[in-house]
Amino acid sequence: MNTDLNGRAAHRAEITARAEAQMAAMGVDAAFIEQLVETFYGHIRQHPDLGPVFEGRLAGRWPDHMVKMKAFWSSVAFKTGAYGGKPVMAHQNVDGMAEHLFLQWLQLFSDTLVEIGASEEAHGWFMASAERIAKSLVLSLFYNPAFDDPRMRNPS
Ligand code: HEM
Repeated sequence: MNTDLNGRAAHRAEITARAEAQMAAMGVDAAFIEQLVETFYGHIRQHPDLGPVFEGRLAGRWPDHMVKMKAFWSSVAFKTGAYGGKPVMAHQNVDGMAEHLFLQWLQLFSDTLVEIGASEEAHGWFMASAERIAKSLVLSLFYNPAFDDPRMRNPS
């Protein structure tokens, strides 16, 4: 039993060490994540369309959100498992949430990566991760399986 647990802990440590090395090779470390999250949400709050949507939900709770988002991106980048939240639920019933805002979110994220001097590899890696998550959020928030029903397309 103990050997099993030790084995699993060692396996997890190996995964994290490998992810850290992969990130380091792209110039990504804890300070990079800190700067990415601080700069990105600084811009989000100033954004004419995204700002009010975030503010409506996060007024008075920004410090907590920032801590969560740093844990989230560290977890994704370094595979630490430090983030244990429920992103889909967090995005439900947000006033003003709309599908087109995701493109603006992704554009701002890309601009932020350029602004903070992310390497080309880091830019590509973070954008691929963000796009993948954005796609799954959009599907869970706006997609209705009934749209695939041929009767919805050709009502008779
Ligand atoms: C139009 C796009 C988006 C909007 C308006 C939006 C808005 C929000 C808001 C208002 C919250 C706070 C929820 C709360 O604590 O009550 C939140 C949390 C969060 N968002 Fe987004 N978001 C967007 C896109 C994304 C994308 C693309 C990602 C990932 C790449 C993401 C990741 C997260 C995560 C991890 C949380 C924390 C969830 C938790 O509570 O554990 N969001 N978002």
